[in-house]
Amino acid sequence: MRKAIVMNGKALAEKCLGETRDEIAALKIKPTLAIVLVGDDPASAIYVRNKDKKAKLVGIATKLYRLPEDTSEKKLLKLVTKLSKSRKINGVLVQLPLPDHIDTAKIIAAINPLKDVDGFTPENIGNLAIKKDCLTPCTPLGCIKLLKTVEPNLAGLKAVVIGRSQIVGRPLAQMLLNEDCTVTIAHRKTQNLPELCLTADILAVACGCPQMVRGSWLKDDAIVLDIGISYDKDRKISGDVVFDEALKKVKAITPVPGGIGPMTIAMLMANTLKAYKLQHPKKFKV
Ligand code: GUN
Repeated sequence: MRKAIVMNGKALAEKCLGETRDEIAALKIKPTLAIVLVGDDPASAIYVRNKDKKAKLVGIATKLYRLPEDTSEKKLLKLVTKLSKSRKINGVLVQLPLPDHIDTAKIIAAINPLKDVDGFTPENIGNLAIKKDCLTPCTPLGCIKLLKTVEPNLAGLKAVVIGRSQIVGRPLAQMLLNEDCTVTIAHRKTQNLPELCLTADILAVACGCPQMVRGSWLKDDAIVLDIGISYDKDRKISGDVVFDEALKKVKAITPVPGGIGPMTIAMLMANTLKAYKLQHPKKFKV
């Protein structure tokens, strides 16, 4: 029996981080990333700490802005606007989710698209939709990079994306479409989900439903991207796919942990370098 490939996101992320670090060193530049964290969501605090740590490792300076949970929308908007205009800042990242009393869309729209290292602004969402080179969301970018290590040409493949979030599902579907896949987006109202999944050459699962996708839902030789990260009651990390069942069916699958997660941070660092270049168009052709 042939053996399924377990896609090593950790190793590819290290390689990508190394490339970003080498390029920053060769260019003798010091990009600066501003990270804004509002409130004390423990998961967000961990993500921000990891982003800060990895940035320093590749030669990106960080400025951390930790604001209390009750920060007003007006105050946050003022900070994001200031960072977006500052010549000293090359990337602006507002960690999501924001507290309920803040209009997230309004805050994101205040980020300068050339500093939008998350690719979340309306301008960059539009640019991605018209296939104009731009800053694009980190997790989907990491998915495509990892996917291409096992399938360099995605054209014509049937892709099913489970999840329609602004951060992962929607932009990933757009990127797969830009690669000439035939794309279906599934979500909580989708009917006959197992049957739909059985048609997928590429199945990307980003719904945050631990262990939802079973081996019986998968086409033989499918490629599975498990983007979900949940913690069970014993704090054990879990993906959206039953890994051991899937392994018997698929051509390739990402593990959790060590799959998509590390790629997200590596792509954030690559995006920060790209943002720096976009802000210095005379010096760099991006
Ligand atoms: N929250 C969860 N994922 C992300 C991400 O990729 N970027 C930001 N800014 N917030 C997040």
